[in-house]
Amino acid sequence: MPERKLLRVLAGETVFPPPIWLMRQAGRYLPEYRETRAQAGGFLDLCYNPDFATEVTLQPIRRFGFDAAILFSDILVIPDALRRNVRFVQGEGPQMDPIAPHEIAGLDPTNAETHLAPVIATVARLRAELPEETTLIGFCGAPWTVATYMIAGHGTPDQGPARRFAYQHPEAMDELLELLAEMSAEYLIRQLQAGADCVQIFDSWAGVLDELSFHRFSIGPTRRIVERVRAAVPRARIIGFPKGAGPLLPAYREGTGVDAIGLDWSVPFSFAADLQRQGPVQGNLDPLRLIAGGRALDEGIDAILQSLGHGPLIFNLGHGITPDAPIAHVEHLVERVRRGG
Ligand code: CP3
Repeated sequence: MPERKLLRVLAGETVFPPPIWLMRQAGRYLPEYRETRAQAGGFLDLCYNPDFATEVTLQPIRRFGFDAAILFSDILVIPDALRRNVRFVQGEGPQMDPIAPHEIAGLDPTNAETHLAPVIATVARLRAELPEETTLIGFCGAPWTVATYMIAGHGTPDQGPARRFAYQHPEAMDELLELLAEMSAEYLIRQLQAGADCVQIFDSWAGVLDELSFHRFSIGPTRRIVERVRAAVPRARIIGFPKGAGPLLPAYREGTGVDAIGLDWSVPFSFAADLQRQGPVQGNLDPLRLIAGGRALDEGIDAILQSLGHGPLIFNLGHGITPDAPIAHVEHLVERVRRGG
């Protein structure tokens, strides 16, 4: 059995109190992040500089002692490696050149390995600098979620442009997702070989798909990543996070073969507990309970520990921490989870 708590859970063991980390735990709610970010210049400069990226990954570990560190990077480094002119405009979120169906055949991944080499260097640095007991999580975006940004050229409330594209040009969509799946699998394999203990696949926009599209565009490409990663790195442990998948979560677990499923806060406890009988789960505190603090926070924590603490659980938020999260509330969250509620 591996020593690192989070890996024990991923292997199916119940660990109580459960290991805890937070999605987006390195970020703007931390003054030390804002300081390093200002030194780095642009957001992508931060992602591609192993000194700065290592530093911001370690910041939340030093401050809160989380059980896991997540590599600091972004899911959009993949379209950046495909030369889609990705940029992060302050206050406006990510932007890139929107892709048309006829351009997909011309996408060229040959430069990706070189382009992403600094991220892999960061992984190696991190494994050397992290405390022995801290799990290092690598990640990528799921092909569907990355494609939604590539097609619209920016974030949208319901990914309407990508859904239209998928219905009107399904073959072009399959082609794009297959390319992204292949690149993402390679990218995860290199993260695992450089020292990542496990990886998470973020499908933040899975929840906008109907059932047919969910199978074809979320489950299918994710399964191909899982198969390729496992073929190259048999020890690989993989967490899938199909945000908003709701009643399709059991199909996702079965169809993709991921080791653990990340749950958003809308998943009911009884449903989550049923899923947990099939394997480990991660989640699922509403990030806004963390903003409120007090009773809203405590009852949210306790309800998760009571309903999911008796099986394999990784405690997390149901989505990323927001920039306005008070540091004192994060400290309280960690303390309460470590006390067992
Ligand atoms: O600490 C960590 O979790 C690791 C780093 C990480 C970031 N992005 C850093 C980041 C991870 C795992 C991501 C994943 C990511 N990126 C997702 C999937 C998870 C999710 O939140 O749904 C998505 C959809 C993206 C794309 C993305 N990157 C968006 C939509 C934005 C803008 C939103 C915002 O908060 O401004 C980003 C920028 C981004 N990625 C920031 C950070 C810390 C903020 C950038 C800044 O410092 O200005």
